[in-house]
Amino acid sequence: MLQASRSLALQLPSLRSLGADPFTLGVASGDPSPDGFVLWTRLAVDPTRGDGGMPTTPVAVRWEIASDPMMKTVLKHGTTAATPELGHSVHVETVGLPSNREFFYRFHAGDATSPVGRTRTAPAPHTKLDRLRFAFASCQNFEHGYYIANRDIANADVDAVVFLGDYIYEYRSKDRPRVHALPALKTLDDYRTCYAQYHADLDLQAAHAAHPWIVTFDDHEVENNWAGDIDQENDSPASFLPRRAAAFKAYYENMPLRRTSVPTGPEMQIYRKLQYGQLAQFTVVDTRQFRTDQPCDDNFKPTCDARQSPAATMMGAKQEAWFADTLATSPTQWNIIANQVMIQQLRETMHGQTVYNMDQWDGYPAARKRLTDFLAARRPSNPVFVTGDTHQTWVGNLKADFDDPHSAVVATELVGTSITSGGDGTAKTKYSDENLAANPHIVYNNDQRGYFLCEISEKQMISQLRVADKVTSRDGKMSTASRFVTESGRPGVQVLS
Ligand SMILES: [Fe+2]
Repeated sequence: MLQASRSLALQLPSLRSLGADPFTLGVASGDPSPDGFVLWTRLAVDPTRGDGGMPTTPVAVRWEIASDPMMKTVLKHGTTAATPELGHSVHVETVGLPSNREFFYRFHAGDATSPVGRTRTAPAPHTKLDRLRFAFASCQNFEHGYYIANRDIANADVDAVVFLGDYIYEYRSKDRPRVHALPALKTLDDYRTCYAQYHADLDLQAAHAAHPWIVTFDDHEVENNWAGDIDQENDSPASFLPRRAAAFKAYYENMPLRRTSVPTGPEMQIYRKLQYGQLAQFTVVDTRQFRTDQPCDDNFKPTCDARQSPAATMMGAKQEAWFADTLATSPTQWNIIANQVMIQQLRETMHGQTVYNMDQWDGYPAARKRLTDFLAARRPSNPVFVTGDTHQTWVGNLKADFDDPHSAVVATELVGTSITSGGDGTAKTKYSDENLAANPHIVYNNDQRGYFLCEISEKQMISQLRVADKVTSRDGKMSTASRFVTESGRPGVQVLS
């Protein structure tokens, strides 16, 4: 049961007092449409426990949407059930609100009231917008540092936040400033406990409470470098799929996702599109669930025959067709693709050999060629891929043929860094110059933690790389490291400053 109907929910025990604050995990909103969004919270009086210290019965949760932050003018309200089957999470999908407006929301359970969140609806499809601002981020290993960047996102003036995966990490690291509650995640209870630890962070709560988020998962929400129904150790699907099902269920429970993303066992619908007027469409892809296994024994490896397999796929045939159709028929001037792993070719040298990261699109060149051939042939309007995973910033151009310097540029790709993963970084690594020289389609590299702040207008897209001077102590400071521009009608990106 997703959400009890109002009449049923009203019959639920409305606990007078849960004995402690059940809103320890904050509030969130997501997937804005022109007339609504998803509101989320998850009740936990004790976030250190998989069951949140909650009773084994459903709890009635009242929600309110207002036009003001003091919650004086309530526009909509209702009651839903936080059930133990869904980890006492709440997903309220609202409709019927005016488009392109700011709203405020909160929840009540027992005699407790949640913090107030802010969100907004998307503009109506026919609207001609002057500008759209969004942040995109990925990779927030809790152990590797403090969420300085999430605090910055909370204070940013954006319409939405796009999160590209590695929201959690499934293992424990050594010698880090913070420690995961559990050494490894396998069961539903484990994943729930991990999400609770992350959600209890006040900087992350602030970023969720400030803006609607559009989320997708990558590998660490389940396990490092999983591919389809194969895990990292290449165990049988029979042993991996129950873990994937547990991980997906916990992901849904902990994200502001619509009911279309409720998992069915080990399957979950995450690829989707969201339109912002005539200006931009976000196309969110899933390059984990339907991909073929990484070739050449995965990780950073010299090329091998298996890498050239024409059967290689990142999206699977069905999603690939959907993606092509979505881009080819997109009604918007800009097309932002929320993507997990780096698409641009990245040749690196290790021990005197050229190696590729087989988990990126570099491990799937036949699939990448189909993608770039499509972009070259159909020329969808202003495609910009925003990408996570690598824990470094790589700004560059997608080429029809990466090995031909004269080959056409078909799209921009902004590979964001990480919120924390990797710990404190430096602007340049000792390999930066060498990597830029070996990969001329890449115009910029940076190894500091942070995120991107993007502003789209009719003429251009300006993207700012925000970085933290450090994340391993709470007093890290954010600044803008560099700015980039993509002009409308001219694929590719340039460094502005
Ligand atoms: Fe990551």
